[in-house]
Amino acid sequence: MRIFLVSNSARGHAIAEALVRSPQKPEIIAACTSNDPGMKRIAKEVHVTDIMSLSKIAALAKAAKPDFAFIAPDDPIGAGLADRLESEGIPCVAPKKHLARIESSKAFARDLMKKHGIDASPKFRVFTFTSTDEQTRLEKDIRGYMDHELHGQYVVKYDALKGGKGVKVSGEHLLTIDDGARYAMECVKECGTVVIEEKLIGIEFSLMSFVSGTTVVDMPAVQDHKRAYTGDTGPNTGGMGTYSDANGSLPFLTDKDLADASAINKKVAKALMDECGEPFKGILYGGFIAVADGVRVIEYNARFGDPESLNVLPLLESDFVKICQSIIDGSLSSNLVHFAPKATVCKYITPKSYPDAKDEKGQKIILPERFPDNVRVYFGDVSEDANGNVLLGGSRSIGIVGIGDSIELAEKAAQAACEKVAGPVHFRADIGTQESIQKRIDFMQKLRAK
Ligand code: AMP
Ligand code: GLY
Repeated sequence: MRIFLVSNSARGHAIAEALVRSPQKPEIIAACTSNDPGMKRIAKEVHVTDIMSLSKIAALAKAAKPDFAFIAPDDPIGAGLADRLESEGIPCVAPKKHLARIESSKAFARDLMKKHGIDASPKFRVFTFTSTDEQTRLEKDIRGYMDHELHGQYVVKYDALKGGKGVKVSGEHLLTIDDGARYAMECVKECGTVVIEEKLIGIEFSLMSFVSGTTVVDMPAVQDHKRAYTGDTGPNTGGMGTYSDANGSLPFLTDKDLADASAINKKVAKALMDECGEPFKGILYGGFIAVADGVRVIEYNARFGDPESLNVLPLLESDFVKICQSIIDGSLSSNLVHFAPKATVCKYITPKSYPDAKDEKGQKIILPERFPDNVRVYFGDVSEDANGNVLLGGSRSIGIVGIGDSIELAEKAAQAACEKVAGPVHFRADIGTQESIQKRIDFMQKLRAK
């Protein structure tokens, strides 16, 4: 059994680790963006390459003669790597380009839900650039929508992948209607389309599912922390850390919230099948927000979350290779998927100046020789030099996951392990603490009581 894995981060390390736990004993041939020490220990071969060069990746994949490929990151999926590999006869756990538009186009995702009667979006409108002559009218329409329909509570979404930096929110990144209209016009000029939507108030969470066409099997729900600093302050990042609970839900969600999110993932998988005429095969990641009267969709992704995958994959007790095979051949069923009923807390170690600068790039960090059994360590943007030193890149460095019977125990394990990493690094001590979780529970209780 040989698996070709495309990876750019700790998420790829977690995927590789889950795959090699399979009784099918697969060999991993990995295409990575850096000389990743985690992947080096697990994979038979690691090729450091440009993962956006579809021809280079296709050549590597063909030479690897894999049973299937797993594509972890959004950019190559959005660019059509699954189409390319499948045309070479290599089945993929990753959707084809037109199905991946659920992530790569915010307008496609909103329009799809609307067309298929999935009532989970905020108020939204898609604006499209037609011609330079029409610019003034378009800007006037956008202002009118933001002001009169959304009452200044708006979100502007760039309609293409932009490394999580294409969304700007009123009251946070954009302070006035002028700011919003200016950014919206920038978006339409750059990519032709912009989505403007109502700003929702609530608490976000992620529900990822294994999907093969209309069969959808959920993983435990996870909550991410996008802001760089303690107390959810500072600039947005790819995600500073996450937690999940032993019961598969989250402490601030009602049973109905989770059931509704699960039903929405199922409806979206079916809508994709109906719309695109072929099955989505891969991971569907619903980005939800719990609001006063239920849940709404913030966005969809067509891949595992990073760090969300670091929480759930270590808990997967069933054969991950078999799950991948069943996604490909259409035999996926909930019987194949079992997660240990444990809580997890992940804290990302990042360079000190992340995300504003890359001042520590190339500097050394020192990790303990061993971590306790209830801790997992996943390498992200770090590389190993010839002497075995672990060197920082510019992005998130190492995801450290604590596992326990409760979030409290998992948090203590993750925190203690993070404190043992020496070097010019930073992490959020507050992620998964009782205090931080209680704040979310209280916030939702107040919101629901209004
Ligand atoms: P997205 O890339 O669509 O996930 O957006 C990035 C972030 O922007 C989300 O994680 C939210 O924090 C915020 N956001 C996006 N859409 C909305 C919305 N309709 N209301 C409030 N916040 C939003
Ligand atoms: N943790 C956010 C993401 O993977 O998109």
